[in-house]
Amino acid sequence: MPLVPSYIKKLNSYKPGKPISEVERELGLKEVIKLASNENPLGPSPKAKKAIQDCLIDIHRYPDASGHALREKLAKMFNIKISNVVLGSGSEGIMSTIMRTFLLNDDEIISSSNSFIGFKVLANASGRKIHWVPMKDHRYDLLRLVDHINDYTKIIYIANPDNPMGTYVTKEEFDAFYKHVPERVLIILDEAYFEYANHSEDYPDSMTYRYDNVITLRSFSKAYGLGGVRIGYGFAHSDLISNLMKVKVPFEPSSLAQAAAFSALDDKDFLSKSLLLNRDGFEFLTKQFQKLKVKYIDSVTNFITTRWDSTEQAILITQRLLEHGIIVRHLASFGWPNYVRISIGLKEENQKLINCMNKIL
Ligand SMILES: Cc1ncc(COP(=O)(O)O)c(C=O)c1O
Repeated sequence: MPLVPSYIKKLNSYKPGKPISEVERELGLKEVIKLASNENPLGPSPKAKKAIQDCLIDIHRYPDASGHALREKLAKMFNIKISNVVLGSGSEGIMSTIMRTFLLNDDEIISSSNSFIGFKVLANASGRKIHWVPMKDHRYDLLRLVDHINDYTKIIYIANPDNPMGTYVTKEEFDAFYKHVPERVLIILDEAYFEYANHSEDYPDSMTYRYDNVITLRSFSKAYGLGGVRIGYGFAHSDLISNLMKVKVPFEPSSLAQAAAFSALDDKDFLSKSLLLNRDGFEFLTKQFQKLKVKYIDSVTNFITTRWDSTEQAILITQRLLEHGIIVRHLASFGWPNYVRISIGLKEENQKLINCMNKIL
């Protein structure tokens, strides 16, 4: 097809984890647990759910294209100006807008190989030259990222914490890295798991120091349980934000998403329940993994990535768990063929996972 640029032809479409309904149908199972996509096992914030219901009567109207109410609320919450806040259909929506806003012909991108696959998809689709720098000990190797900066570098992407490894860059590491980055280079700090990671003392909450060439991205998909409505937000210098606002899809995010996110921010109860459940789940699962001699990467997120001795073993454990009605994520397509990512679930889901692993192993 001559219409399609060669760099697009080369791409493969993103394959998400299997949905529950598909596994139930294929394997004839009644009860399937999904621990594959780092979703909030408690479901959505009840306040957000109510806001969506209240909003239904108005869905024949277009949303507020500027997202004023939610941006104002976020600005107040983080003590910044509304002109420093942008919204998008998920933080991935904002990443896509960033690519379309700032990348010119010869511009180049630097990131870590085998980090967040959503960014990889967008970066590859941009058709620009990308330097994928290997991780070191399952972590971003920031100083090696610096080695790839040249006159063409435009964007450096850092998922902090990283998905699928769950590890994070410390404040000290980020500060040392930042000194080497020219001001003309935009750093995307993807903090989709910020709420979970923020309890780690040396985690660099990027809101506490604002640099003109850093854009912070956050999400309502994880701790607020709103992955399905697609809403995220970004903070940056007002010059960057005003240009992103020119390029973003005008009516993104939807009115339901804006209303849900607005109310989710008031749902402090739900947020603390979610974080507590996650912390307990992490403690339980890691203790059990140690007992079962399952190797795992220490994580500050809502998932734990396990490490197997071979690709065959990783495939086998994924398959056997599926047969028991538990969906986990084998990370071959992420570039980690010996690894399986497991989202932290409800107490009883975690227990069932461990019971099944016990049987299988
Ligand atoms: C590192 C990272 N960034 C961004 C996202 C996507 O967030 P959103 O749903 O807000 O687009 C995810 C989702 O898994 C993620 O792991």
